[in-house]
Amino acid sequence: MEASTLIAAYLAAAVLFILSLGGLSSQETARRGNLFGVIGMIIAVAVTVISPQVHGYGLILGAVAIGGAVGAFLALRVVMTAMPQLVALLHSFVGLAAVLVGLSSYLHPYDELNSTAQQAVHLTEVWVGVAIGAITLTGSVIAWGKLRGSISGRALLLPGRHLLNLLAVLLVVGAGVAMTAGDAFGVSALATLGWPLLLGITAISCLMGMHLVLAIGGADMPVVVSLLNSYSGWAAAAAGFMLNNDLLIVTGALVGSSGAILSTIMCKAMNRSIWNVVFGGFGAKPSKKSSAQEGPQGEVVQIDVDGLVDLLGDAKDIVIVPGYGMAVARAQHPVERFTSILRKRGKNVRYAIHPVAGRLPGHMNVLLAEAGVPYDIVLEMDEINGDLPDTDVVMVIGANDIVNPSAQTDPDSPIAGMPVIEAWKAKNVIVLKRGMGSGYAGVQNPLFFKENTRMLFGDARDTMEKVVAALG
Ligand code: TAP
Repeated sequence: MEASTLIAAYLAAAVLFILSLGGLSSQETARRGNLFGVIGMIIAVAVTVISPQVHGYGLILGAVAIGGAVGAFLALRVVMTAMPQLVALLHSFVGLAAVLVGLSSYLHPYDELNSTAQQAVHLTEVWVGVAIGAITLTGSVIAWGKLRGSISGRALLLPGRHLLNLLAVLLVVGAGVAMTAGDAFGVSALATLGWPLLLGITAISCLMGMHLVLAIGGADMPVVVSLLNSYSGWAAAAAGFMLNNDLLIVTGALVGSSGAILSTIMCKAMNRSIWNVVFGGFGAKPSKKSSAQEGPQGEVVQIDVDGLVDLLGDAKDIVIVPGYGMAVARAQHPVERFTSILRKRGKNVRYAIHPVAGRLPGHMNVLLAEAGVPYDIVLEMDEINGDLPDTDVVMVIGANDIVNPSAQTDPDSPIAGMPVIEAWKAKNVIVLKRGMGSGYAGVQNPLFFKENTRMLFGDARDTMEKVVAALG
């Protein structure tokens, strides 16, 4: 294949990736965005495989067949609620690939290195790529373990952990500089130490990745997964530099920067600073005993399905706040039928979506889109909070932390400062959940004990099906 054809194909793939990211930014265009990404990736893989430098098709076909089969199996089997774990695991593969590319590129540079400067640049690409890849690899494996519950969600707080991280960074940079000095500039004392130094960088970076993520509390894992997504992009970009592959550099940079932007958005939604995440210990602040963690704060008042149907008869404005429980119960379809019945009766029904509702970014939007809820009635928290005092009924369906008033009122609460949907300001609040179980953050929710709140206990799907039948 001509070099110019390869460049043109890479350019087309890069443009498709950019269009893909653009498409993924809204629900209406997400499907198209996904398709652009798939086409871009097919072009990228196909032209890379048939480019003149690539040999050993048997191996490549074998790897694609095995990888494709495993990927398809996992994607078909995974339930929506286990998606963050899968994403974390996939990030670890990108990290592992960057480490392997770095080690093999050190063994056998892709390009001929004719000058000292070229050698120095190449070696720097190698150790930086290996370090980022190793941090991504072990950090993602720990995040995967924490998300699936095989590693404790509690933050591991080693004494002097920031100093340990700083020491690790200094060791990695020092070893990288020493390796470059020995191999490229011929500093004789370091000349034979290349491999031990590179393996040392790999080991220290692996430990650093583990330590950074172990130090983060389980409640903040979503931000960490998004941050690791960003790291995996930078690891891929580093591999692109080592392989002299422009498309890998562009793609890595796109993933790296979009992951960083998503992490920033999520941090804002949880009222945290991104630097806390980067330097670990995030979400680990041992909280004083706060009222939010104490037991019941009064009596809850229950309502039954008929009571809710009566209440809805008089209501004009209804806002639904879906949360993790709606996802677990797979209640989105009856919730959609409920919405369409009420809308046909002339009621103004809208949805309030918290940026971290559920267990992954956009979790609620995906479920509601799947059930066919019209996009224009699905609003972001900031768009709808101001309307809640004039809302007749807010229905909280399987949500807990995202409607917890103690985030605003209790400075000692683990979720203090997290922006929340101010459901309690509505005239009536109906909370659908199975019992008095806490949410992800494990804290009590004073909303359940408010005067204007009624609890409708039961599995969200069963309850919503009964409500739909009663509305009939
Ligand atoms: P949560 O605070 O986790 O609350 C979910 C509630 O759903 C629980 O209190 C549970 O109460 C109820 N529930 C569970 N199964 C149910 C069922 N079958 N039917 C009805 N109710 C059911 O959810 P949320 O309000 O969506 O908040 C999300 C939380 O997860 C936040 O703390 C957020 O930081 C965190 N998080 C978010 C993400 C992202 S990126 N979205 C990722 C990881 C973690 P019962 O047991 O009493 O039924």
